Amino acid sequence: MSHGNFNGRTIQVVKDLSLDEQWYLYEKTRQLKQELTSGSRAESFRIQNKDMGVYLMFLEDSTRTKESFRNAATFHGLKVNDFDVRSSSFQKKENITDTVKMLLGYSSESIFVIRSKQEGVCRWLEQSMGRYAEKAGLPKPAFINAGDGRHEHPTQEFLDEFSFLEFLGWDRSHIHIVLVGDLFHGRTAHSKVDGLRIFSSVEIDLIAPPELAMPKHYVQQMEKHGFKVRLFDSIQEYLSQSHIAKSWYFTRLQLERMGELVLDQSERLRKAVTFQKEYLSKVPETARFFHPLPRHSESPTIPSFLDDTALNGWDEQSRNGYFTRIIEIGMIGGHIGQDFHGERHKPLEFLDSFIEDAPLRSARKPEYKVGIRPVEHGIVIDHIGTGTETREIWEHIHKIRHILDLHMVSSQGVYRSVNNKHYKGVVSVPDMDEMDEKMVKMLAAIAPNCTLNMVKDSVVIKKFRLRMPPRVYKLDGLRCKNEDCISHPRNYEPVIPEFHRLREGTFVCMFCNTPHQYKEIWSSEL
Ligand code: NCD
Repeated sequence: MSHGNFNGRTIQVVKDLSLDEQWYLYEKTRQLKQELTSGSRAESFRIQNKDMGVYLMFLEDSTRTKESFRNAATFHGLKVNDFDVRSSSFQKKENITDTVKMLLGYSSESIFVIRSKQEGVCRWLEQSMGRYAEKAGLPKPAFINAGDGRHEHPTQEFLDEFSFLEFLGWDRSHIHIVLVGDLFHGRTAHSKVDGLRIFSSVEIDLIAPPELAMPKHYVQQMEKHGFKVRLFDSIQEYLSQSHIAKSWYFTRLQLERMGELVLDQSERLRKAVTFQKEYLSKVPETARFFHPLPRHSESPTIPSFLDDTALNGWDEQSRNGYFTRIIEIGMIGGHIGQDFHGERHKPLEFLDSFIEDAPLRSARKPEYKVGIRPVEHGIVIDHIGTGTETREIWEHIHKIRHILDLHMVSSQGVYRSVNNKHYKGVVSVPDMDEMDEKMVKMLAAIAPNCTLNMVKDSVVIKKFRLRMPPRVYKLDGLRCKNEDCISHPRNYEPVIPEFHRLREGTFVCMFCNTPHQYKEIWSSEL
């Protein structure tokens, strides 16, 4: 794929398109929809390339997402491959990495549309198949996330935002929206955290009983984005106050993802988020209801008596899935995007330096020793785990030895620091003149805030403090705590876990974006 601003782009999360790029997608969709609904064949939007293939890999059930992608690919005249999970080698426990590698060889240019229970799968395939394609001389494949576990559903988000904009007459200045239903499992609700940023100001009300509440980290992100957030337990409670949104977004109760405990409570939970006839008089007349669909046939959160009312926004919304996905494939296929002039999505950069020079103090350091003798030449790692429990400091020491493979004649210990306030760990590494950058990075990741002391003729001649690095990866013992993450060992994919620092002490998994405290990125099995 060689042209356009978007060709070969992977969309794992909403943020993989910058806000300008999202707006471009909506504007193009608006033009396309106008043309198609006025009877034009919209020829200029079509890719028309029989060598380009779209693989539909739906490892979880789907109707709308799959069929709208299939029809969008057919619109473009592309080769559509429907991957049949039930008769594939997945049944023989083949992993997705091997499967996709094989499929890559069948088209000169490929777009994979993937729905999976495993979170972060498209990010992983972008990375691993990008490397593989380069080596094999194949064009870089693109991956579109069509819903990954409880994580995100970016293309649903794009059609949702397009539908809200249409409803609001293309006014981007403000939206007041209420999300109702299973906000805990609903990936379409989670994607709102980034998708709604297309509006300059956002008021968002969240209605869900505590068991189905939006996970805290999403609420925190919304607040960080400047959204005004309010929480309610039920529609009834929401309607008992007077500031009621015009845009309502309902989601289904995802019973298939709930444990026994919550299932027992399903009646009560449903009631809290199901719209009732008597609520009608309290909803603004100009309101519109949206829903990613499907609705539960026996107990839908939007009951069918509303189907033929002016509140019905979900039918048009579902149609919009076809239009937005035509444009998405057109962009990623390199056909649409030449006239894009806004700010492009920026790949991540890790610039901040984490090695600082530290002042030397002339105090004697009896703890810098080998056996009972002071270190004469070498390196001493000091201030390991300062301020934490002694047990934790010992764990840090063992981790350092194991991961950095430090198994020479040496000493280690847990001591009180000079001011006697804290405990700290010390490891001596005699006869080592310097540590290479890779080792220093590893050490900073394992024992952030430790110091590296260079000792010559029994005197510390140079000292560095190692801060938490911006990215932690390629180390034994790293593990995402989310069992549904593609990088979790239980999924048997050859993924190397990688974490990115958000703020001091908080890291996110680069595949599933689950936030972790620093301690949590390490497996307890080391
Ligand atoms: C949603 C999904 O699968 O995430 N549906 C969809 O894509 N149209 C929501 C759902 O299944 O509840």
